[in-house]
Order: sequence, then C-alpha cells, then structure tokens
Amino acid sequence: MLSTTTTIAIVGAGYVGSAIANALLLRQVARDIVLVDIDEDMCRAQVQDLSDAAFSSATRVTQGTYRDASLCDIIVIAAGIGPRFDESRLSLIDKNLGTLKQVLGAMRPLRQDAIVVVVANPVDLLTYFAQQLSGLPKCQVFGSGTSLDSVRLRAALAERLQISSSAIQANVLGEHGDSQVVAWSTATVGGSPLSNVFPFHLDDQPEIAKATKEKAFDIIKAKGHTSYGIAAVVSSICECIILDRRQVHPLSHWQESLKCCLSLPAILGRSGVLSTIPTPLSEGERALIEKSAKEMRQVVHQCAW
Ligand code: 2OP
Repeated sequence: MLSTTTTIAIVGAGYVGSAIANALLLRQVARDIVLVDIDEDMCRAQVQDLSDAAFSSATRVTQGTYRDASLCDIIVIAAGIGPRFDESRLSLIDKNLGTLKQVLGAMRPLRQDAIVVVVANPVDLLTYFAQQLSGLPKCQVFGSGTSLDSVRLRAALAERLQISSSAIQANVLGEHGDSQVVAWSTATVGGSPLSNVFPFHLDDQPEIAKATKEKAFDIIKAKGHTSYGIAAVVSSICECIILDRRQVHPLSHWQESLKCCLSLPAILGRSGVLSTIPTPLSEGERALIEKSAKEMRQVVHQCAW
C-alpha cells in the first residue's frame, strides 16, 4: 500500500543505506526516498543504479542534501563505518559518533514530527546520542537494535523445528552487540512455550545463541559487510511506522529505569515508539540485561562529545 505523501531520507549511501533504499523500493510504501551522502559522486551513482531497479516501483528515489533529508517524515541514519570481522561494534564509537554529529548538525533543525531510525553501529550508543543531539522527543528517535538478531534467532529455531519462522515469537534483547541476551524464558511457538515444542532446547541454547550473535561476523569475514538482512528489517520498521501498524519490534529505545538505550520489545506506530512491552524475563536474563545496560552507560561516560 503506497502512502502518497510519505518521504524517507536515508543518510549514508554505502552498502547498508543503498540496500535499505532497494528494500524500500520493492516494498513500495513511501512516495519518495531521498539518498544523501557526503560522497556526492558515489551517492549519485547509487541513485542511478537504484533508479534502474525502480522501473516497476511506485516509489521514486533521488539524491538530496542534508537539508532535504531534514524535511522528510522518516530519517534513517546509516552513515558510518561497519565493523571488521575481528572487532566489536562498540569499537566504532569514536569514528561513528563523529559522523553522527556531522550529519545531525547539517540537518538541524529537524521537523518536530520527524522519526529518526538509527542503524549505524554501535546502534544503542548512537541512538542515545541521536536523542541528545536531535532535539526531538525520545520516542521519535530509536535504533534498529536487536531486530536483526531476533530475525536470525527465529530463523535458526525455525530450521531446527522445521516450521515457519513466522510461527516463532522469540527475541534477542539488550545490546545489538556482544552483551546481547536471548530471552529464552518468553519464547513461544504458536502461543506455546518453546520448551513444549522443542524438548532439546536447553542443550541447544548456548550453540543457537552463539551462532545468532556471531552470524554478522561470519558474513563479514567472507564478504566484508552485511547489508541485506538489515535492509529487510529496516524496511519493515519503516512500513510499520508509515502504516501505523503498531506491531512489536525489539528496538533500541530509551529505558528510564536503566538510563540508557537498548532493545526491549516496543510497540511502534506513526509517532514512533508508543510503549515498551513488559517482558517477564527470568532472573538470570534480567541480570544480563542490567549488565548490558551498565556497559552502555560506561561507554557513554567515556565518550567525549
Ligand atoms: C549486523 O549485525 C553488522 O550490525 C551489523 O549485520
């Protein structure tokens, strides 16, 4: 269903930004996609390539300025470098925080009703800084967080159970990074606790959690970056916003009790994150989330911004 007015800016036209633009072209929910990058020649080439892919799409893709981006309904921040296979996402903070400051500085003032979706890594920390720097209400600024990890987890479980991943409700929570937490205690299949349908799950949990956490780095080791997975996830997040679907996504958003941004299940609609779904985690899982939050707060304190 095409929204005849919605415009989406994608800031950063590298592998991730251009893959998001392509996924959005195929999904056809926005009227216009505006691609922006500091490397204008590369951005122009991406727009030309994407315009070839758009022949049967009702969505238009154009190159724009930071000012154009600031006027869009949704602004996806994909600017920054990605991790190498042997480095953590957190190690990118200095470089990518510098980039975030530049792009938000160039876009300010943002529309007061704009929705900012942070995708660049480390996504939980950059979401926090984007909330501070954008001047927008916190509920309008959130990150893709562990949405992609959760998709990876569901796919791994679906393979073991030989059922569709759409029948599985299971989330990875906390940091989109090394301290992420699989919420095993709340995982269900068709409404039934996972343990009822997957008797071996306790033995297999460590291996599934490890493979989920390391999947990005397996991909990066072989091809240098990830892009298609995050593109599919971000385009579904954008669709949920545009159509005010109010679906539940594990998004990185501000947690007042933890004093940081990290992922917990959130209801997402046209005005952003509407609320966090209370999740009855086990004591152990809750302790791991708190540990993850502590690490986020520590890195924020160490950042010179
Ligand atoms: C991913 O998980 C690298 O954060 C990126 O694919």
